[in-house]
Amino acid sequence: MNNLTFPILKLLADGKFHSGEDIARQLKVSRATVWNALQYADKLGIEVFSVRGRGYKLPQAVTLLDEQVILNMLGEQRIWLKLEIHDHLESTNTYLMKKLSDGQSHANCVAANLQTNGRGRRGRTWQAGLGVSLTFSLLWRFPCGASALSGLSLAVGVALVRALHSFGITQAQLKWPNDVLVVDKNMRREKLAGILIELQGDMEGPSTAIIGVGVNLNLSEKIKQQIDQPAIDLASVATHTINPNELLGVLLKNLLEVLENFEQNGFANMYDEWVTHHAYHLQQVRMLMPDGREILGMVQGIAEDGNLLVETSNGLQRFASGEISLRDVVL
Ligand code: ATP
Ligand code: BTN
Repeated sequence: MNNLTFPILKLLADGKFHSGEDIARQLKVSRATVWNALQYADKLGIEVFSVRGRGYKLPQAVTLLDEQVILNMLGEQRIWLKLEIHDHLESTNTYLMKKLSDGQSHANCVAANLQTNGRGRRGRTWQAGLGVSLTFSLLWRFPCGASALSGLSLAVGVALVRALHSFGITQAQLKWPNDVLVVDKNMRREKLAGILIELQGDMEGPSTAIIGVGVNLNLSEKIKQQIDQPAIDLASVATHTINPNELLGVLLKNLLEVLENFEQNGFANMYDEWVTHHAYHLQQVRMLMPDGREILGMVQGIAEDGNLLVETSNGLQRFASGEISLRDVVL
């Protein structure tokens, strides 16, 4: 931990060179202290160029999170959303899970400029980096029990697609149960965003959901190499630059609307919309089973409770989220 690392990174966020002397003067510390603080940035996986005679520089300009811009995008909804912005967290989901027992409030959103130990489902890793991805989690308390929340990750997907489409990313589609993909005209599917929902509470209720979302903004080559599936970012698909703060504001606005609707009407209400954006509708898929087996099938659609319907050699089968992972059939 080094308290100066993020103040220095904020000065470097413009992507330009800053001399060690200038940084030291602005922060009222020695040049050696600046150097030390940037050693810690390196430990966090943040690349900072250091050129003799010119100073320090990030590989590219980054837009850091800004509470006011995010809240302004929320309109009236801002009144009851509690937003926390952190420079660095290991995982926004883990942070909120740990805070649950402190009675963390409803509609509490935690976003991090840098997440270094992001989690996917079943112990998988979510890769992120400073300014290269949006990582946040929202805590939502439901009066009902976990059994009534089976369609929640699908509902959250609807909110993400609505937000992305409003930024012109109309190629964004949904992969059951928790991913947002971009599908190009050759039917190549690449993952743009992921959703991780963790539940706590009784089956009968009440329950609390920690809804974690990661959206790729501008992945570095280094990060792409660490991802073992086709991945894509907004910078590659958007026709104009998208401000991450505006994106987060619009994502939250859509999430709040969808969650209120889900709470009152369940997933059935968003079923048609989800199906419209379904990336694998009537497509051949491989299904990875938890025991390592692979089964081939043709996706028929989803049931009203959010389960996946697949025609396999054993007939029409239903799968609940957590039972299988879908993969493309490799030709
Ligand atoms: P499923 O959700 O269907 O079980 P999945 O393999 O997508 O399958 P998840 O837990 O949803 O699994 O997501 C984690 C996976 O996402 C990682 O194992 C990795 O393959 C991929 N991944 C990790 N970081 C990123 C990223 N920034 N962008 C795109 N994909 C990523
Ligand atoms: C997935 O595709 O399986 C889910 C990825 C979810 C990643 C987000 S990033 C913010 C939040 N914090 C985490 O540790 N994970 C989620």
